[in-house]
Amino acid sequence: MLETIDTESLTRHTRIALARNAATTATARRGIAVSGAAGMGKSTALLLIGKRHEKAERRRLNRIADTAFAPVVYAVIPPATTPKMLMQAFAHWLGLPVPPKATAQTLTEQIVTVLRTLGTSLVIVDEVHNLRTNRQAGAEAASALKQFADRLDATFLHAGIDLPATDLFAGNMGRQIKARMIVHQMRPYGIGSKADREAWTDLVLGVEDLLPLAAHPAESLAEESTYLWDRTGGSIGALRALLSDAAIGAIIDGTEKIDRRCLESTATDYAAEEHHRNQATRQAQPRKRGLKRAQ
Ligand SMILES: Nc1ncnc2c1ncn2[C@@H]1O[C@H](COP(=O)(O)OP(=O)(O)OP(=O)(O)O)[C@@H](O)[C@H]1O
Ligand SMILES: [Mg+2]
Repeated sequence: MLETIDTESLTRHTRIALARNAATTATARRGIAVSGAAGMGKSTALLLIGKRHEKAERRRLNRIADTAFAPVVYAVIPPATTPKMLMQAFAHWLGLPVPPKATAQTLTEQIVTVLRTLGTSLVIVDEVHNLRTNRQAGAEAASALKQFADRLDATFLHAGIDLPATDLFAGNMGRQIKARMIVHQMRPYGIGSKADREAWTDLVLGVEDLLPLAAHPAESLAEESTYLWDRTGGSIGALRALLSDAAIGAIIDGTEKIDRRCLESTATDYAAEEHHRNQATRQAQPRKRGLKRAQ
């Protein structure tokens, strides 16, 4: 895992929210929502922040190996989630048995009690876009999530695809949720400015450094950074996938290094492929010179 601009700033936001929530009483607790397209690194950032908080809390409270202490819980919301499924996801993470007749309410009670006992201070909820508030069950799920957050003395960290456009942020419930959330947008890397290009090249070199190749000259991918941006659209996920596959290819071939030829013979995922085609057509169009006619 690499420390990117996103992981750095999210770590800071979370620290501030945790400190603030620990200092103020009851209701005004703040959460953080991480939003962005698929493959931008949302889940990776959440896991990293979770790990960091877990470690820091165990050290701070001198409970390093205490299994009765769980500073962080993590749940993934399944598609088309009902309140009961939402609470089941938490119960599942905690290893709590879920009797078939349990209702969302009784499960929430049980989970809140368990999390209080475990001393949980950070609750991470991934794939939040799977809550559909325009359907009855989804609306109830969103409200269950809010009630859960209200009952528990913890900071909530959510992630999902394009959250501001989702149902979770719409309607009355959405207004309440929005008012308590700091939204962190994860965008693809750009190459528009010098600073953008430097950040992207740093990322390329960071990912290159993770590759287990015997004959690959360090930092040689710096010169391919624009080409790699064209191939991946500035997505960290697409970049990692492309370079990992290229590395596997290089190991299979026995060359143990990645160059342009090797990259060209490696496929990218469909979204990156789409971006690449768009780039290609844009570049292929001859640019018209002179001024446009006023109409
Ligand atoms: N900070 C990072 N350092 C190294 N690799 C990363 C980092 N962030 C993301 N990646 C890589 O990018 C890929 C996609 O990341 P991740 O699964 O976190 O994206 P996501 O935004 O959660 O996507 P989705 O919306 O599809 O769930 C992962 O395979 C991961 O290896
Ligand atoms: Mg994810």
